Amino acid sequence: MPNHPVPYRVLLFICFISSFLSTNHACNKMDHDSLQSSFDTPSPLNWSSSDCCHWEGITCDENGRVTSLLLPSKGLKGGISPSLGNLTHLSHVNLSQNQLSGPLGTGLFLSMNHLEILDLSYNHLSGELPLSIPSIYIRVVNLSSNQFNGTTSSSFLQHASNLSSLNISNNLITGQIPSTICLSSSLVKLLDFSNNDFSGTVPLGLGNCSKLEVFRAGFNSLSGTLPSDLYNAFTLQEISLPSNMLFGSISDSIVNLSNLTILEIFFNQLTGTLPSHIGKLSKLKLMLLHFNKLQGFLPPSLMSCTNLVELNLAFNHLEGNISALDFSKLGQLTKLDFASNHFTGVLPTSLYSCKSLRALRLSYNDLEGQIQPEILSLESLSFLSLSSNRLTNITGAIKILMDFKILGVVILAQNFLGEHLPDGDAKIGSEFQNLRVFGMSNCQLTGQIPIWLSNLKKLEALDLSTNRLTGLIPGWLGTLPSLFFICLNNNSLSGEFPKELGSLLALQSPQAAREGHGYFELPLYTQRTNASVTSLQYNYLSNLPRAIYIRNNSLSGNIPTEIGHLQLLHELDLSANNLVGNIPDQMSNLTNLERLDLSRNHLSGGIPESLSNLHFLASFSVAYNNLQGQIPSGTQLQGFNGTAFEGNPGLCGPPLSNHCQQMNGSNVTKSIEDGHEIGNGIQWFISAALGFVVGFWGVCGPLVLSNSWRIAYFQFLSNVKDRFLGQ
Ligand SMILES: *[C@@H]1O[C@H](CO)[C@@H](O)[C@H](O)[C@H]1NC(C)=O
Ligand SMILES: *[C@@H]1O[C@H](CO)[C@@H](O)[C@H](O)[C@H]1NC(C)=O
Ligand SMILES: *[C@@H]1O[C@H](CO)[C@@H](O)[C@H](O)[C@H]1NC(C)=O
Ligand SMILES: *[C@@H]1O[C@H](CO)[C@@H](O)[C@H](O)[C@H]1NC(C)=O
Ligand SMILES: *[C@@H]1O[C@H](CO)[C@@H](O)[C@H](O)[C@H]1NC(C)=O
Ligand SMILES: *[C@@H]1O[C@H](CO)[C@@H](O)[C@H](O)[C@H]1NC(C)=O
Ligand SMILES: *[C@@H]1O[C@H](CO)[C@@H](O)[C@H](O)[C@H]1NC(C)=O
Ligand SMILES: *[C@@H]1O[C@H](CO)[C@@H](O)[C@H](O)[C@H]1NC(C)=O
Ligand SMILES: *[C@@H]1O[C@H](CO)[C@@H](O)[C@H](O)[C@H]1NC(C)=O
Ligand SMILES: *[C@@H]1O[C@H](CO)[C@@H](O)[C@H](O)[C@H]1NC(C)=O
Ligand SMILES: *[C@@H]1O[C@H](CO)[C@@H](O)[C@H](O)[C@H]1NC(C)=O
Ligand SMILES: *[C@@H]1O[C@H](CO)[C@@H](O)[C@H](O)[C@H]1NC(C)=O
Repeated sequence: MPNHPVPYRVLLFICFISSFLSTNHACNKMDHDSLQSSFDTPSPLNWSSSDCCHWEGITCDENGRVTSLLLPSKGLKGGISPSLGNLTHLSHVNLSQNQLSGPLGTGLFLSMNHLEILDLSYNHLSGELPLSIPSIYIRVVNLSSNQFNGTTSSSFLQHASNLSSLNISNNLITGQIPSTICLSSSLVKLLDFSNNDFSGTVPLGLGNCSKLEVFRAGFNSLSGTLPSDLYNAFTLQEISLPSNMLFGSISDSIVNLSNLTILEIFFNQLTGTLPSHIGKLSKLKLMLLHFNKLQGFLPPSLMSCTNLVELNLAFNHLEGNISALDFSKLGQLTKLDFASNHFTGVLPTSLYSCKSLRALRLSYNDLEGQIQPEILSLESLSFLSLSSNRLTNITGAIKILMDFKILGVVILAQNFLGEHLPDGDAKIGSEFQNLRVFGMSNCQLTGQIPIWLSNLKKLEALDLSTNRLTGLIPGWLGTLPSLFFICLNNNSLSGEFPKELGSLLALQSPQAAREGHGYFELPLYTQRTNASVTSLQYNYLSNLPRAIYIRNNSLSGNIPTEIGHLQLLHELDLSANNLVGNIPDQMSNLTNLERLDLSRNHLSGGIPESLSNLHFLASFSVAYNNLQGQIPSGTQLQGFNGTAFEGNPGLCGPPLSNHCQQMNGSNVTKSIEDGHEIGNGIQWFISAALGFVVGFWGVCGPLVLSNSWRIAYFQFLSNVKDRFLGQ
């Protein structure tokens, strides 16, 4: 011991000092108790030791008062107790990404006078927002992605003179957007109110936000115009107000916002023209103004926004000769969508210098001319939709487009009117290596289903509906391993339903089916039922139904039993053909079927009892055939409207009103006498077929109509009616 007296003493001293310090640090008793009872449900945390300052997620000040509570993603459950409010020295609270639920006590934060950062995002908290967060030090409030409801109180952040960030997005909050925030604090940089149910207008007052960079209030019910003082928030980098009911125009003053990078106000009712000096916004990357009522010509200065990455002006009333625009400076542009406007002219050659372009949609305009070989310089192009224009020379178009290496979606519907679909002698082997979706409907094309399609091993969706194609449905379609959506409606195809289609892998094996997960660079919009006019948005190829539609052709022969292999099929429409024979029993193997239409053929025999295995069937018709006997009783088939069975003189039993005489008894005269006179029948046919167009045919529509649904909906309906009546 004498050898080490000094170190020993030093050690003792250190021990003494540190024990003194640690007692000094020891957790304040009240904070200890408050913490222990602050969560309703026992936490998965190890909060057993006596000194709460050493607990996980806790930090104390030198007086043992708890100053921060950092427990994000700790699996915390249940409610937050009012006793948390006794931690009066808390400055930093982060409980985000847990499963906390229930309301916050209205006074929870009233005593937290030191609070600077509050993050309760990504929980299941509900009830009203806190009445007030009175701490003058508060800088960050993130209550987003919860289920808070009610309105924001005027005292909510009244004293928050240092507030820099407020995010209450993704809740159920109603009432007005608080307007005084920037009056309290001039330091606000970020305001996010999106995805709630705010109404009223975009508040005046943003002009006081001299530091505001991000303003989001999309997906609410805001109306009114863009407030004029918005254009005084010079520091703004992002304005995001999609999916509201805003009207009026975008002021020329927007060019004051020289740092603006993101301008998204799609799905509103904006009118007027684009500001003529918009090109001064040289930092603009995203300009998403689709689904509005913008009109007039595009200002040439738009083409000076050389940093644009996405430009979406689709579904407006814009006009002008698109070939007059010089796109050549938009080297960063990856997505361009001008669908459903009134643009004229030919495809602008300057567009071909946008080497980054991945998606191009110019459908539903009034463009003319031919697709030029120069389009191939768009090496990154994977989505091309030019539907519903007046393009010509389909032979040239296909020959050129085939050389694209990564093109995945080609939709050229409603062009090339009456031309001949080129067949054969393509450079077999290399064409369309990556094509997944091919849409060429409504072109009145003559010819046959072309052999070159047989090389498109990645093809998932094919729409050749409403043309004048003749010949057989080729058996090789069944060899395309990814094909799951086939629409051949309204052609003159003949021969049998090829039994080879029974080998379609993507309609058989869940594995093959899972491989199709293509993401549409631009979403397709459509409408499936006539129940409402809201459009469906398809972002993924896999959202299309697994379906075969061959309605209104001249197919003959039997329905092959091989159809029973297509277990993943969701929709099958073989109506209005000349099919004969029985409904094969194997049909009952299609247990995923939701829609089945075999109406208007010459099918005979009984309705197989086993069809009642089709538990998901929501729409069904075998009307206008020669089916006989009793409709299988005690099955959900009887739940369908009688119209699903009518026009089969030999069918009887509910839901038809005629009674079955005997087992399998058929009495032709009897059914006719039931009131289904010819005239009646035709009337039914027309109205049912219209319903159909909206229901079924509308499903081919994602490709056909891809774009125009919302606006052209009624127009389309009347078009179809005309076309239909014209047959
Ligand atoms: C917290 O404060 C409330 C009053 O707000 C009091 O009733 C309660 O006893 C305190 N709880 C703890 C654990 O200190
Ligand atoms: C809990 O923490 C204490 C000390 O803080 C430690 O001794 C104990 O082993 C921990 N228990 C578990 C289960 O981790
Ligand atoms: C809270 O914690 C999460 C997870 O670590 C983190 O992403 C988030 O930025 C934190 N919040 C604040 C305001 O620092
Ligand atoms: C808010 O949510 C709470 C709890 O979910 C509910 O009881 C209350 O009725 C809601 N209030 C409003 C105005 O919707
Ligand atoms: C606000 O922030 C500034 C600096 O950012 C600071 O000097 C001031 O003390 C803060 N005021 C309050 C009340 O927190
Ligand atoms: C909550 O918002 C703040 C401020 O915007 C941010 O720093 C924080 O990361 C957000 N929390 C999460 C979990 O993203
Ligand atoms: C607000 O929070 C949500 C998640 O709850 C997040 O997605 C969003 O980006 C945040 N807003 C801003 C402007 O950071
Ligand atoms: C624009 O951004 C730059 C760089 O971030 C910054 O220096 C400048 O002050 C900003 N201008 C305005 C008006 O906010
Ligand atoms: C059709 O396009 C091809 C390829 O661009 C071209 O060679 C051919 O001359 C065009 N045909 C007509 C009739 O314009
Ligand atoms: C019916 O489905 C099963 C798999 O569920 C399959 O093995 C069988 O071959 C199918 N039967 C017919 C007739 O297609
Ligand atoms: C069956 O359909 C017809 C015509 O669509 C309709 O008038 C009738 O009300 C429907 N009946 C039932 C029970 O739904
Ligand atoms: C069919 O019905 C009519 C009138 O209901 C009856 O006169 C006739 O005998 C029946 N025929 C047969 C084959 O049942």
